[in-house]
Amino acid sequence: MVDKIRIQGGIPLKGRLPISGAKNAALPILAAALLTDEPLHLENVPDLADMTSMQRLLQLLGAAITFQPGDGRKLSLHVPEMLSTEAPYDLVRKMRASVLVLGPMLARMGQARVSLPGGCAIGPRPVDLHIKGLEDLGARITLERGYINAQCDGRLKGAAIRLPFPSVGATENLLMAATLAKGETVIANAAREPEIVDLAHCLLAMGARIEGIGSDTLHIQGVERLHGARHAVMADRIEAGTYVIAAAITRGDLVLEGASPELFGAADETLAAAGIELSPVEGGMRVRPVAEGLRGTDVMTQPFPGFPTDLQAQFMTLMCVADGAAMITETIFENRFMHVPELTRMGARITVHGGSALVRGVPSLMGAPVMASDLRASVSLVLAGLAAEGETTVNRIYHLDRGYERLEAKLAACGAVIERIA
Ligand code: EPZ
Repeated sequence: MVDKIRIQGGIPLKGRLPISGAKNAALPILAAALLTDEPLHLENVPDLADMTSMQRLLQLLGAAITFQPGDGRKLSLHVPEMLSTEAPYDLVRKMRASVLVLGPMLARMGQARVSLPGGCAIGPRPVDLHIKGLEDLGARITLERGYINAQCDGRLKGAAIRLPFPSVGATENLLMAATLAKGETVIANAAREPEIVDLAHCLLAMGARIEGIGSDTLHIQGVERLHGARHAVMADRIEAGTYVIAAAITRGDLVLEGASPELFGAADETLAAAGIELSPVEGGMRVRPVAEGLRGTDVMTQPFPGFPTDLQAQFMTLMCVADGAAMITETIFENRFMHVPELTRMGARITVHGGSALVRGVPSLMGAPVMASDLRASVSLVLAGLAAEGETTVNRIYHLDRGYERLEAKLAACGAVIERIA
């Protein structure tokens, strides 16, 4: 069933909108359950397609997963013993984050067989940094017939690792593997995304010994075993950032429950420069555009604390209806401008040269049928539809369900005229 979303644009969003748990924190934290034979109790878990995919993979590996009746955001994972150490192609190809079971499986079982994730819409997305780091920790890794085969005799051994690029996934895989390695591991040039901080806090609760959390150098003292724990997943800063832009582009006034400005790193300066007022309120954050309107603002995506690549498409949509021009440069992924041709069909004026897009603001976008592609490009088309004159239909929206919980319901509760049609 290929669903689509139909939106009548031009309505300012007003009201309160709850922010769910962070997908990109919950996914590695689910994988961390493999590091212990005791139960891991999680709260504020988002209800997303990617979460279901990861849970299915973990069940294949031996995890028993139970949800708290009546509260889908609370779940417990228990892996008393590993039933398999293989992550098969048909699961991994659907979701790249499946590769995050590689480090934990190797650390716990001394072996792992994980399908190479393959590319995806936004680029080839290799895992060479994951593999090199695990070899530094003493693993012997061969690649054959599309699979990563990893072995180590006994425990992994602590090592000094320097990442050539602060890869989020590689930092997470290596951090988890190092918690059970023998001796100290140092990960230099580590990624610093808040989701990695959240994973590290969960690992500390499980008995891991980690220093330098939130910095670009992580020191991990390996321990013999980890124990069960309870952890509440952080709020999703990318979901929050998406709704910040929804409030701004519809000239509305929203309170995002559970979100906080410091989640945005340097992005909040860019958002303020673009004419968005973020102010903390009880239990969340209030968002509205400044009276003078939106201003064209240049942005370059960078690893945290720079402007997040996962907000690039959404910000570009905002710039389409700002006063003046904005130069948007994507430095993280090779091909993350798939929203451009679709926005152009809605009347946007965007010129792409390699990794940079020059956006010239127009008074208004015009509703049109458009095609979704990767997760964040898809939601940028929903944002465009909310602001455009007339009706917009976004096709092929299964991507949205991967990363946005109850998107239409949350927007409709704030006045949007939006519906899913099969
Ligand atoms: C994580 O992906 C996120 N996914 C992505 O969010 C996010 O865009 C990305 O980090 C950057 O912030 C999850 O957390 C599940 P990377 P990840 O390793 O770990 C290259 C979303 O929309 N690279 O930091 O895959 C890679 O090709 C998703 O929620 C290597 O070359 O990102 C890319 O160009 C999209 N070799 C760049 O680094 C490697 O071994 C960033 O990748 C690893 C990565």
